[in-house]
Amino acid sequence: MRNALDNPFSPGSDIVPEVWAGRTQQLNDWRDVLRPRRMAGLPERGRTILGEPGLGKSSLVRRIADDARARGDWVTPQLRIPSGADPLKLVASAVLDLADQAGLAARREKRIRELLARVESVEASGFALTLRDREGPEPYRVLADILVEVGRTARHQNRVALIHIDEVQNITNENVLSQLLIALGDAIGHEDDVELPGGLVAKRTLPLAVYLTGLPDFEDRAGAHKGATFARRFQTTTLTGIDDEDLNAALRQFVFDGWEVPTEEGGTARVRMEQNAADTVVDLCRGEPFLFQLAGEKAWYAGSGETITLEQVRAGWRGAESEAGAHVERIVSRLPQRERDFLQAMADLPAERRRFSIIAAEAGFAKATDAGPTAQRLDTIRRIIKRGSKYSFQHRAVEAYMTTDWPSID
Ligand SMILES: Nc1ncnc2c1ncn2[C@@H]1O[C@H](COP(=O)(O)OP(=O)(O)O)[C@@H](O)[C@H]1O
Ligand SMILES: [Mg+2]
Repeated sequence: MRNALDNPFSPGSDIVPEVWAGRTQQLNDWRDVLRPRRMAGLPERGRTILGEPGLGKSSLVRRIADDARARGDWVTPQLRIPSGADPLKLVASAVLDLADQAGLAARREKRIRELLARVESVEASGFALTLRDREGPEPYRVLADILVEVGRTARHQNRVALIHIDEVQNITNENVLSQLLIALGDAIGHEDDVELPGGLVAKRTLPLAVYLTGLPDFEDRAGAHKGATFARRFQTTTLTGIDDEDLNAALRQFVFDGWEVPTEEGGTARVRMEQNAADTVVDLCRGEPFLFQLAGEKAWYAGSGETITLEQVRAGWRGAESEAGAHVERIVSRLPQRERDFLQAMADLPAERRRFSIIAAEAGFAKATDAGPTAQRLDTIRRIIKRGSKYSFQHRAVEAYMTTDWPSID
């Protein structure tokens, strides 16, 4: 009864996993703050959600987008920025899609038709348009204008238009990044006058919601170079692992009721998980959503009966060890050398000796103060470590990988 077709775990990227854990704060932020405020025409910043690979940034915003769609909102198709691509083209294309959903193409006003034509040239030429077409408005202006139109239509229909741009760290060209942030920022910040009863006029923002997701490195670029403008328009959250409590809660449905699967006879059956099997999945994955899905999937395949046992979780994990290790290795190996050295020095020291000056010396920094920025980045930007009088790890899988035999279970 357990097979590839009914396995609910999904250690692959870019889908909303069926077995969902935590992230309540971010989901509530969308439902209770961002969406209602934008619907009401109140100012509210866009959201930037950053985090090391595999922490569930894309999944989170996909889930938010699903929620939006279910409420009748307009949502851009997936907008992943491949490295080296011109994001202005991609965003123009996505915004044209929104404009389509909003029915702008059917509108007769000359202004709208001209605007759409200009967005189409941004879609075709992207940033190159800035250099070539010195007569026309800059691409960012065009994108902001079309978003405003989409927003106005959305407001008339009581909907929100949601734009999600993923892998934003891949936007390496400063000018392109700044055009994009200004376009989105201007649209979010745009206010229309509304006439109130009694002839009063008030200002109202448009129901536009923007989510940017990507690796923490984006914060350096956007934060440092775009300074105040970026911070005024976007609120940044950096994800950390998922709490064990939330992971446990996600597996509760297996432990108590069983997970419903179809049977060959056309009925349904339930797959359960022993409590200690669930506890072990939670323990093994160290708060990493990717590893949570991986452990779950491997346990599912480690047997075919109606109960997932502790032994099956362990057997499954043995088959996943190298993949789990490779996952964490990828996180560590993409860090700049200094950060890796700092982490390694920290890992090599016993927990009680992890003080800043000792780590800095062990990591080979000439003066302890030279290690300051590195430590700060690992803490506030990446959230891999936590500084204090004693330093500790915040990323539990990185800690386990660097300080113990984990992911080995034997
Ligand atoms: N809240 C969650 N609960 C359970 N699994 C999750 C959750 N968020 C993400 N995942 C799983 O973690 C893996 C990585 O998610 P993804 O969104 O691709 O990460 P990122 O975009 O941060 O690299 C995927 O397999 C996904 O199914
Ligand atoms: Mg992703």
